[in-house]
Amino acid sequence: MKNRRSCCCLVVLLVAVLLAALTAVLLLWKLHCPRGHNLYSTAAVAADSKECSEIGRDILLAGGSAVDGAIAALLCTSLINPQSMGIGGGSIFTIYDAKKDRVTVINAREKAPQKLTAGTYTGCGPYPKPDPGTHWIAVPGELRGYEKAHQIFGKLPWKSLFEPSIKLAERGFPIPNYLKLFVQHLREEILNSTLRSLFYHSDGSPLANVRYPQLAKTLRAIADEGPDVFYNGRIGQELIADIQKQTRSNSDSIITFKDLNQYAASVTEPLNISLGNYMMYTPPLPSKGAILSFILNVLKDFKFSAESMEGSQRMQTYHRIIEAFKFANGQLNKIIGPKAQSHISDLLSDQLAKLTQQRIDDEVHPRNYYTAEPQTPDKYATSHVSVIDRDGNAVSVTSSINHLFGSKIFSKSTGIILNNQLADFCGPNNTFPDIATVKGQQPPSSMSPSILISQDKTSMMVVGSSGGSMIVSATAQVIMNTLWFGLSMTDAIKKGRLYVNSNNIVNLEREFDKEVEKAMKEKHHEIGQPIRLQSVAQGIFRDHGCIEAVSDTRKQGKSAGY
Ligand SMILES: *[C@@H]1O[C@H](CO)[C@@H](O)[C@H](O)[C@H]1NC(C)=O
Ligand SMILES: *[C@@H]1O[C@H](CO)[C@@H](O)[C@H](O)[C@H]1NC(C)=O
Ligand SMILES: *[C@@H]1O[C@H](CO)[C@@H](O)[C@H](O)[C@H]1NC(C)=O
Repeated sequence: MKNRRSCCCLVVLLVAVLLAALTAVLLLWKLHCPRGHNLYSTAAVAADSKECSEIGRDILLAGGSAVDGAIAALLCTSLINPQSMGIGGGSIFTIYDAKKDRVTVINAREKAPQKLTAGTYTGCGPYPKPDPGTHWIAVPGELRGYEKAHQIFGKLPWKSLFEPSIKLAERGFPIPNYLKLFVQHLREEILNSTLRSLFYHSDGSPLANVRYPQLAKTLRAIADEGPDVFYNGRIGQELIADIQKQTRSNSDSIITFKDLNQYAASVTEPLNISLGNYMMYTPPLPSKGAILSFILNVLKDFKFSAESMEGSQRMQTYHRIIEAFKFANGQLNKIIGPKAQSHISDLLSDQLAKLTQQRIDDEVHPRNYYTAEPQTPDKYATSHVSVIDRDGNAVSVTSSINHLFGSKIFSKSTGIILNNQLADFCGPNNTFPDIATVKGQQPPSSMSPSILISQDKTSMMVVGSSGGSMIVSATAQVIMNTLWFGLSMTDAIKKGRLYVNSNNIVNLEREFDKEVEKAMKEKHHEIGQPIRLQSVAQGIFRDHGCIEAVSDTRKQGKSAGY
């Protein structure tokens, strides 16, 4: 009897000790993690919608790699935010392989078709509105990018990445609020285009639910047969035929089946710069990773800290950031055209960073102080997904069909919305470059999906943004907010952002610090109207075993993880 009682006591004691230990571990984890929401212990996906973050997370839970999760989340995004991206567009992946401790870039940006016609491109700008038409469509790279990424880094079968989105496309769903904004905002243009049947009844009243029956069939074919059915098979042939039906003249439709056959994604090395304890990896041309690197390289010697954002000190900090953004604008024209590549090592160099930093004083200068050259026009669009899996692999991927709903050319038989990425060739003074220099080339892109890794590998940031020309400065601000100003990823993304446009006018979000705004005006920075179209950032910060994954609330997004 006595023995049994002491045995019982022992069990109770043991359970109590175990419970206490568990509580302590949980408490330590909480204490060690930044305060706030969006915390996970193992793996996470930050896409620009809750639905797609969850689809990505489910793939990770099923044993998928970060690349598997990213592809599944992107396929879903093409349904939830079809105005932003889809398989009729292109993307750039930055991928971290934890086992090999290596970062790789997969470039699946669209390419200019071979049959460009001189004199067709008179409709560059003013942005964001080139003239409508099939002639702006570039050769889609999206699926070749998924294929390449999956071949190298995939774990689950290709087909399983498509299943959740095929179901979603077949079943349909109430039009998400964010998509509804653009369906309403672009009502006339949509009603006047082949997109009409996706979002409106035949009498012109808006549909409450969106369904994608043709796209579901296309995705099923690609899931079963692989991307060749798109690039070399019947889906591609139907797509080209649909585009040809929508041309205004013979010279107009220039993308051919042969262009699709010839498309290949490339695997390249990332650019890198060191930022204190971190290495930042970001894609080379045609992305603007080099400009992002330049900005952070220029600003890092100011040795910003949390204090730099306190009290009156933050006025000087913002002034310096704005000035660095102006100098970055001054570099933009140097990375377009045939001589672009030769300028990249300069942009990454400490020498140019130092020289530029020394030119940042307390004054606001005339335009030619930062550059005498005319600027490329501002552009707006896109979607970004950040993923970390349970093995510590990471993906930072930005994907786009360029402007809202791309070219607004919808292929009815395949359900694909086509990009208008050739508009990104539009350069200074809204001119299109000599077509001989453009054929088969990828247009410059603001995409800068980045990964930052600490020297001891215990901390990692996976970050990127959408928003066309606003992408680079948005990504830079999120990185500075976390790395230098001491904010959690949640606060870093939430904080009001600024954007210095191609005319060096400073545009502030509505939420932006009003006192700083006042101080910048007094300093004679030219302050523009609040930005209507916003940049949208998705970021994940992992510190030891604590993952904070954040989707931007500007696009009503939400992350998912476990
Ligand atoms: C409608 O489309 C036609 C043909 O593409 C074009 O000429 C016209 O300007 C468009 N109207 C509007 C309101 O977009
Ligand atoms: C950074 O890039 C240079 C040039 O491509 C390369 O030689 C170097 O190994 C890279 N460093 C790291 C840490 O990846
Ligand atoms: C753009 O216009 C400016 C001023 O009109 C001119 O100086 C410059 O040469 C033009 N640039 C190009 C690339 O046409």
